[in-house]
Amino acid sequence: MNVLVTGGAGFIGSHVAEALLNAGHRVVIVDNLHTGNRANIPAGATFYDADIVDQARLAEIFAKEQIEAISHQAALANVRESMTDPLDYARVNLLGSLVLLELARKHNLRKIVFASTGGAVYGEGASPDNDRLPFTERSWPQPKDNYGPNKLSVEYHLDLYHKNYNLPYVALRYPNVYGPRQNSKGEAGVIAIFTAAMLQGEPTRITGDGEQIRDFTYVADIARANLLALTSDQVGIFNVGTGVPSSINTVHDYLTEITHYDQEPTYIPRPVGEVLATYLDSSKADRDLGWQARVSLQEGLRQTVEWFRSQQ
Ligand SMILES: NC(=O)c1ccc[n+]([C@@H]2O[C@H](COP(=O)([O-])OP(=O)(O)OC[C@H]3O[C@@H](n4cnc5c(N)ncnc54)[C@H](O)[C@@H]3O)[C@@H](O)[C@H]2O)c1
Repeated sequence: MNVLVTGGAGFIGSHVAEALLNAGHRVVIVDNLHTGNRANIPAGATFYDADIVDQARLAEIFAKEQIEAISHQAALANVRESMTDPLDYARVNLLGSLVLLELARKHNLRKIVFASTGGAVYGEGASPDNDRLPFTERSWPQPKDNYGPNKLSVEYHLDLYHKNYNLPYVALRYPNVYGPRQNSKGEAGVIAIFTAAMLQGEPTRITGDGEQIRDFTYVADIARANLLALTSDQVGIFNVGTGVPSSINTVHDYLTEITHYDQEPTYIPRPVGEVLATYLDSSKADRDLGWQARVSLQEGLRQTVEWFRSQQ
């Protein structure tokens, strides 16, 4: 298939693009390099430096490249920034997604896969019937920042494009994804931030008491979920996490051991709005997509550290 990967110069998008190329698909990347990096673009992909909100440019690319499916990974994805810049977040995450949906409809695409989020959609996740962790796709959405509703709205749009225009879609709700090529300079991506600091012998900082719980999932597992979602005839929303809760302290301990780091972390106040605990039940993806996470946290951390070392 001719697959458009938006955000393919970014962390997750570049792994998805690579997985698609390895599976024999033709890959066209659209990325405006806002947080992406040319060096991430896999050999064999066709690259356009373009903004997904630019409808005319995207229409040209669609026609020229005979796009048949979309893997939509591009987004502004900094939770804190979404609170200070809600309009730009809506512009890229909502309008940009609608540009793609309209083109998908006009070109009768075979599939659109969307990078959604578990963490920001479920938030702290108290549901009316009190079910709590791990979150399932039926858990009550409780976004705590402007980025969460952006993603949630796109899921609703996908569903109505499916019902009205028969456009097949899968929205994958990602957990905390980590691995090679993750930006260590961002506000999120604690594993990349710790790894880079530890390898440089710099101090590390943990917010709160470090007992916050996350579902850390290795990026190769997420890329494989994207490939399965794109090629299966399933439609709908799927959690894709390990289902294994790990604390920030645990991650810090593992990384300390792997990198032979010899400093203690500094504990700083927890930012307002930070979710205390989130992890995902992905039994629906297991049942319908045949997907489970395969890479353990220790193994994924080892591979991540190895990659960061190779970049030094
Ligand atoms: N990393 C995670 O743990 C995580 C968790 C949940 C969801 N997600 C979602 O996964 C996707 C990929 O995230 P990531 O962690 O790889 O982040 P990233 O910042 O590395 O990738 C996003 C890419 O989108 C590009 N982009 C941004 N605005 C654009 C625009 N207007 N036009 C074209 N390209 C644009 C950026 O340049 C970048 O390459 C995002 O949709 C994000 O919301 C990520």
